[in-house]
Amino acid sequence: MSAHRSPNEPLESLADRHLWGHFSSLGKSVDGTSIIERGDGCYVWDNHGKRYLDGLAGLYTTQVGYGRRELADAAHDQMLKLGYFPIWTYAHPKAVELANRLSDLSPGDLNRVFFTSGGSESVESAFKLSRQYFKEIGQPERIKVISRNLAYHGTTMGALSITGLEFAKTPFEPLVPGALKVSNTNDFAQAYAGPPELLGIAAANEIEDAIIAAGPETVAAVFLEPVQNSGGCFVPPAGYFQRVREICDTHGVLLVSDEVICAFGRLGEWFGSQALNYQPDMITTAKGLTSGHSPLGALLVSDRVAKPFADTDHVFQHGFTFAGHPVSCAVALANLDIIENEHMLDNVTTNAAAFRASLDQLTDLPIVREVRGMGYFYGIELMKDAESGVAFTDEEAESLIRGFLSLRLADLGLLCRADSRGDPVIQLAPPIIAGPEEFETMTTIIHQTLTEAMARMGAST
Ligand SMILES: Cc1ncc(COP(=O)(O)O)c(C=O)c1O
Repeated sequence: MSAHRSPNEPLESLADRHLWGHFSSLGKSVDGTSIIERGDGCYVWDNHGKRYLDGLAGLYTTQVGYGRRELADAAHDQMLKLGYFPIWTYAHPKAVELANRLSDLSPGDLNRVFFTSGGSESVESAFKLSRQYFKEIGQPERIKVISRNLAYHGTTMGALSITGLEFAKTPFEPLVPGALKVSNTNDFAQAYAGPPELLGIAAANEIEDAIIAAGPETVAAVFLEPVQNSGGCFVPPAGYFQRVREICDTHGVLLVSDEVICAFGRLGEWFGSQALNYQPDMITTAKGLTSGHSPLGALLVSDRVAKPFADTDHVFQHGFTFAGHPVSCAVALANLDIIENEHMLDNVTTNAAAFRASLDQLTDLPIVREVRGMGYFYGIELMKDAESGVAFTDEEAESLIRGFLSLRLADLGLLCRADSRGDPVIQLAPPIIAGPEEFETMTTIIHQTLTEAMARMGAST
């Protein structure tokens, strides 16, 4: 037990003593880390009243921005009517309505919705469903899953096994066996020497090679994000997903599109697979489904995968107490209404080119190697000297990212992610209500920060 908080003790020091931040160091003081207190539109304010542009929509989450009364009203009304009920053997109206709505919006025959409480649970559920599905149809040896290096798919043991980030996995090994990795499209492209128009096919063929090497009769599913977040917004080369679809069909493997980030307008469509024109067997979602205003995830499942369960009394032996929470489902329905009524998908498709053009101005700086992405989802890859191709050492990248960029960007009023899980990148995924004013603010602050970063590096070499 700790001493009571003295009336004057700053929240920062209380946080320092008691709050265990996720993926955050306990050993270092959180001084310098902002405590965010309120939000409105694309902006948030810390507990000292400082305003920030939220360039990452919280965590790729607050699609419609902050402070929407409709979301609060939906939660309030639902809480008074039915504050909780499970969807284990029961249903409640909002879960039914939302399942119906998601089936309508999603591509193809993804007509069955399995709710979860978040992204990791959606991925975990897809992994488990793929295994049980194959047992149900008499192919019990199909247990392996394939995903890409550096990709982040969540932190529960199954989802973590699918994740391709070593630092996140090593402390918890041994993980679930049978989770195989292939190159992400960025690494593949850098090593590729063939005809440019065949890049997408060649990158996808690496998945086929992995399936064949593992034994096709042992592979259950391939997990891919439409645009891979980790590493810095890897947009797939032309033809990639169409070839992956063919490969999965040839070998009887399920294609799971992990759209925890890429759905609900992030790429300008309801689902990322629609923006990139491919048909998955399952889609995993969370985050933007409620604009983060209440925790909820959803796994969308095709008729084919649901069939062995729909045709029999066999049960998918899996569930979560809070999955499909009535308050979250009510908030999700109100959120989808806002996105639809305010034409936010159009906002993204109309403004994406201007966002991109604004960020492209940064390529004037020698520290910027590339701006990548689509829709409202961009990564700015940094290099010590992009012209001469000199990379940062690990220590330089660490000192640049943690020692300077994140803090300075926030200092200048921009929250976004500076990351070095691969090459150092700055990532942007603002609320999908953002427009030219926000683009200019982001570009101006990043330009100033990177100019200062170059001066610092020059001074230290
Ligand atoms: C692609 C992807 N999958 C899964 C997850 C895990 O989601 P959650 O943090 O809600 O468990 C994330 C989280 O960022 C993600 O980006």
